[in-house]
Amino acid sequence: MIGRLNHVAIAVKDLESASATYRDTLGAKVLPPQDEPDHGVTVVFIELPNTKIELLTPLGENSPIAAFLDKNPAGGIHHVCYEVDDIIAARDHLKAEGARVLGDGEPKIGAHGKPVLFLHPKDFCGTLVELEQA
Ligand code: CO
Repeated sequence: MIGRLNHVAIAVKDLESASATYRDTLGAKVLPPQDEPDHGVTVVFIELPNTKIELLTPLGENSPIAAFLDKNPAGGIHHVCYEVDDIIAARDHLKAEGARVLGDGEPKIGAHGKPVLFLHPKDFCGTLVELEQA
């Protein structure tokens, strides 16, 4: 059911410093920051030949990644995103398998303008999973 790895998301406290690490130290193609007020984050995408890295930092009060950064002050891998062809069919299959879909279970428009859903980390080896309809 799942297809390509769309991105690995890394939460950071200092987006500028993290962007510089990827751009200057690792020599990656780093895109400009994008505010995502609906998701409470500012995002920087890093384009790799086979996938992307998504650097996330909190935007505004009550950011969903604030608690993660309190627990992981140096930053850390926050989620992985897999592509699916049909997000509704994927959701229904996952629910039938007993997996927990976060929120109200309805896809939201993610940072790439495509529908996304998040799955409970306890059902997926301790990793928060994002599904994106490719
Ligand atoms: Co993501």
